[in-house]
Amino acid sequence: MKSLLLLSSLVSYTYSAVVPRAEEQVDYSGFKVVRLELPEANSDIEAQIEELAAHVLNPGKTSHLDVVVAPESVDAVTALVTESSIINEDVGAALAEEGELLIQEVPAESWFTAYHSYADHLTFLRDLQGGFTSQSEIFTTGSSVQGRALTGIHIWGSGGKGSKPAVVIHGTVHAREWISTMTTEYFAWQLLTKYAGNATVKALVDKFDYYIIPVVNPDGFVYSQTTDRLWRKNRQTVSSSSCVGRDINRNWPYKWEVPGGASTNPCSETYKGQTAGDSPENLGLRTQINQLRDSGGVTLYLDIHSYGQYILWPYGYDCNLVVHNDAQHRSLATRAAAAIRAVSGTRYTIGPACATLYATTGDSTDYTDGVGNATYSYTYELRDTGNYGFTLPASQIQPTVRETWEGLVSMVKDA
Ligand SMILES: *[C@@H]1O[C@H](CO)[C@@H](O)[C@H](O)[C@H]1NC(C)=O
Ligand SMILES: *[C@@H]1O[C@H](CO)[C@@H](O)[C@H](O)[C@H]1NC(C)=O
Ligand SMILES: [Zn+2]
Repeated sequence: MKSLLLLSSLVSYTYSAVVPRAEEQVDYSGFKVVRLELPEANSDIEAQIEELAAHVLNPGKTSHLDVVVAPESVDAVTALVTESSIINEDVGAALAEEGELLIQEVPAESWFTAYHSYADHLTFLRDLQGGFTSQSEIFTTGSSVQGRALTGIHIWGSGGKGSKPAVVIHGTVHAREWISTMTTEYFAWQLLTKYAGNATVKALVDKFDYYIIPVVNPDGFVYSQTTDRLWRKNRQTVSSSSCVGRDINRNWPYKWEVPGGASTNPCSETYKGQTAGDSPENLGLRTQINQLRDSGGVTLYLDIHSYGQYILWPYGYDCNLVVHNDAQHRSLATRAAAAIRAVSGTRYTIGPACATLYATTGDSTDYTDGVGNATYSYTYELRDTGNYGFTLPASQIQPTVRETWEGLVSMVKDA
């Protein structure tokens, strides 16, 4: 975070050069990330904090909130609590460290050294599939509010297409979590490019059919590149409010109605929607899960997010309920966390979602468990633990995708 001025002018230059933009891009120069310790009964204070903050980075957390705040609002927001600390002095400078969006042609390993535009992510998938036409296929499942198809790659092994139970992997449901796009793509890239030369990988591909969608919230993802880097939700409107976006991961129609794990306020980062499952993206995703449940069954479901370094499993909606195969979930997660740590020392916290992190209702893993009949359902929260947060520097993409891949390998071996 030296040369702040230089870095922030650099980032606006590189982003505008690469990504066409419909609206002026939000300039986060001088914005701070402030950690606010919350008192026990805090719903009023939380609402006031949401009003003042540009973004809440960890909505739902009850012990403390990390918020992005304009310099002129820092005093007002810290005055709401008795204890606070500044964890990032300049969000604009952190964005500059994230590196520029790179335009690129073929899926070489160097793909994983930079972040990319949505159009290039689609090209990546098509190019990858094009190299392995006898054991992969591009599929879509529904489309976004703005009409973008939810696009994934289906990978199979020696048993042939659709012959094995499913491993389903979703990425980038929260638009700003760009490292999850890169990580899910790395999974697909490894499974296909290592199949012929690595017996371990071949065995994993022969064991399951893989369905990987790197960006399940394309509208939000595009918006995070053109307009607001810290955008989380989709881009759906409601007539009653000028605020935009549903949190697709609070919109799944299972325990959606349970209070406390999502917001009914359209302006909140965790707005659950007007009715269960009323986002088109969720319709596409649950259609996929239901179809796979009714065909070969789902053995493993992974929803890849950032940040915090957690591996979580059901339930999100109730902190006291224990899933029937909790011990097996814990066993797979323990071994996956150890595999990740063995690569690079990165430490993950594991546990049931609500009890370990915070309450979430209408979330993906409760649905894949409760309705999708998946044997295992996990949420990964990738690097880091808050230093860079959502804007992980490009230099950390390769270390992150490589370590997380070993977590996947471990889980799929054990499943
Ligand atoms: C095969 O892939 C696995 C999983 O990534 C890895 O641990 C192993 O080292 C690879 N084997 C070889 C010979 O490269
Ligand atoms: C749920 O999955 C198990 C196998 O894991 C299977 O035996 C059962 O028939 C499935 N139930 C439904 C309703 O799909
Ligand atoms: Zn997320």
